[in-house]
Amino acid sequence: MPNPKDDAFATRYGPAALVAGASEGIGAAFARQLAAAGLHLVLVARRASPLEQLADELRTAHGVEVRTLPCDLGEEAAAGAIVKACHGLDIGLLVYNAAASSVGRFLDTPVAAHLRSVHVNARGPVLLAHALGGPMARRGRGGIVLMSSLTAFQGTPFAASYGATKAFNLVLAEGLWSELKERGVDVLACCPGATLTPGYELATPPRAESRFAPKPQEPAEVAREALAALGRHPLVITGRGNRIASFAMRRLFSRRLAVVTMGKEMRKRYD
Ligand SMILES: NC(=O)c1ccc[n+]([C@@H]2O[C@H](COP(=O)([O-])OP(=O)(O)OC[C@H]3O[C@@H](n4cnc5c(N)ncnc54)[C@H](OP(=O)(O)O)[C@@H]3O)[C@@H](O)[C@H]2O)c1
Repeated sequence: MPNPKDDAFATRYGPAALVAGASEGIGAAFARQLAAAGLHLVLVARRASPLEQLADELRTAHGVEVRTLPCDLGEEAAAGAIVKACHGLDIGLLVYNAAASSVGRFLDTPVAAHLRSVHVNARGPVLLAHALGGPMARRGRGGIVLMSSLTAFQGTPFAASYGATKAFNLVLAEGLWSELKERGVDVLACCPGATLTPGYELATPPRAESRFAPKPQEPAEVAREALAALGRHPLVITGRGNRIASFAMRRLFSRRLAVVTMGKEMRKRYD
C-alpha cells in the first residue's frame, strides 16, 4: 500500500488529484496532504476566495500546480465543467468530499433541501466517479475516495436524508472497490464521526457535546487515515473511539436499537 509520504503514492495516484469540496475542513486537509505528497491539484468548491487562498498556500509550500474551479457540485453541469478544468492533467485520484446536510425534522425542512443533499452527496459522486474513473481505468491505475459517515450504518432521525446519502456513498464505494480493482483503481469509503470542521461547528449547538460520544477528530487525522487506507480496504472508519462505537452499534445492538439510540442522541441535539 503506497504511503502519502512515499514516492510510490504519487506514482500510483498522481500526477494530479481532484478534491471536490476542497476549501476548508476535511477537504482542505486532503489537499494539504496530497500537495505535500507532490501531487498537482484541482480544487473545487463554491466560494472562489478561500479556494484561491488555499491554492496560493500550496503552490508556495510545495511547488505543485494548483488549479481552482469555483462551482456548485449540486448542479448537473458541474461534472462537465470539472472535466474541462482538468484538461491536460492526468487525474489519478478523486476525493469527493463536499456534502450538503439538512439537519432537523424531516417534514419541517423544505423538500428542496433534502433534494439538494441527494444532488450534492449522491448524484455528484456518481457523475465524477464516472467521468474521472474511466480515464483511470484506461491507464490501469488510480484511486477514488468517497466521503461517507458513521450515519451510513443505520437510519439517523433528524438527519434522515443526509444519512441516506452517506449510506449511498458507502455502498457505491464498496461496489466500485470490487469492480474497479481489476482495472487497477482503488476505491475507498471514508466514514468519519464528528470532526472539527467549520461545517460541523456551525451545525452543532454548544449543548450537543455528549459525555459518551467519541471525542471529535481533527480534519487532518481523518484525511491521513483515509489516505493510509486507500488501496488496503474498501472502507475506513476513522478514529479509535468511532471504531469502537460503530462496532457496538453494528454488532452488539439490533438494527432497531441502533436507530433508537441515534434518535435519542439527535433529539438531545436538534429537537
Ligand atoms: N465534519 C463532520 O463532523 C463529518 C462527520 C462525518 C462525515 N463528514 C463528511 O465529511 C465531508 C466533509 O465534511 P466537512 O465538515 O469538512 O465539510 P462541508 O461543510 O460538508 O464542506 C466542506 C467543503 O465542501 C465545499 N462544498 C460544500 N458544498 C458544496 C457544493 N454544493 N459545491 C461545491 N463545493 C461545496 C465547501 O466550500 P464552499 O462552501 O465554498 O462550497 C468546503 O470547501 C462531508 O462529506 C461530510 O458528510 C463530516
